[in-house]
Amino acid sequence: MGKDVIIACDFSSKEKTFEFLDKFTGEKPFVKIGMELFYAEGPGIVKEIKKRGHKIFLDLKLHDIPNTVKKAMAVLSALDVDICNLHASGAVSMMKAAVEGLTRPDGTRPLLIAVTQLTSTDSESLKNDLLINDPMDEVVMHYALNAKKAGLDGVVCSPLEAGKVHEKCGSDFLTVTPGVRFADGEIGDQKRVTTPEKAKEIGSDYIVVGRPITAASDPVAAYRRCIKEFVD
Ligand code: C5P
Repeated sequence: MGKDVIIACDFSSKEKTFEFLDKFTGEKPFVKIGMELFYAEGPGIVKEIKKRGHKIFLDLKLHDIPNTVKKAMAVLSALDVDICNLHASGAVSMMKAAVEGLTRPDGTRPLLIAVTQLTSTDSESLKNDLLINDPMDEVVMHYALNAKKAGLDGVVCSPLEAGKVHEKCGSDFLTVTPGVRFADGEIGDQKRVTTPEKAKEIGSDYIVVGRPITAASDPVAAYRRCIKEFVD
């Protein structure tokens, strides 16, 4: 599995997304489509971006009873995306059902990764809101192991956790990591950030980069800088 940079296309419409993607004339970046764009435009946006030759991480974070997730995953699989995800808190039975739903009759399927704990959940809300008394890093590693047990391919995590996830779950268990910023860039609302270079050193397999590329004055140059620091 090669390392790659995934651009988070957090746009509210198809027009804004294509205005952005049209800037890339020399390369076809791997893109992440999240809930905002998917709910605004529907599955058509996935098909159109795929037709343009981009790989797609469809970030819809499914979480429901196993049967519902299985059927929804079968629909996403037919869209021919490259990576899908779900919440590991749906438990092992839900994750196993998701793998079954994603698997096509010929045995192929998109990669499936799990969100362990959202980075917006801090230790206090873990304890007080969710009544989980174990420390955050133990919860994250336990959920990652559950995902592996269920047959998933990896997790979404902080680049700072990537090394530990690989230690616990194996080097071929994927770590897909948002929270990436250039050393000389704005941090914005992200709390624990890492540069592309540092993410490579810690062992992330894919970095997910949004605003450092989408809000840059020259997005193509910013994307190439990410590739240079993380992949080359
Ligand atoms: O603009 P920025 O680089 O912060 O974008 C990061 C992307 O990764 C966003 O789409 C955000 O929703 C997503 N993400 C994240 N932290 C997580 C999971 C997803 O930042 N734990």
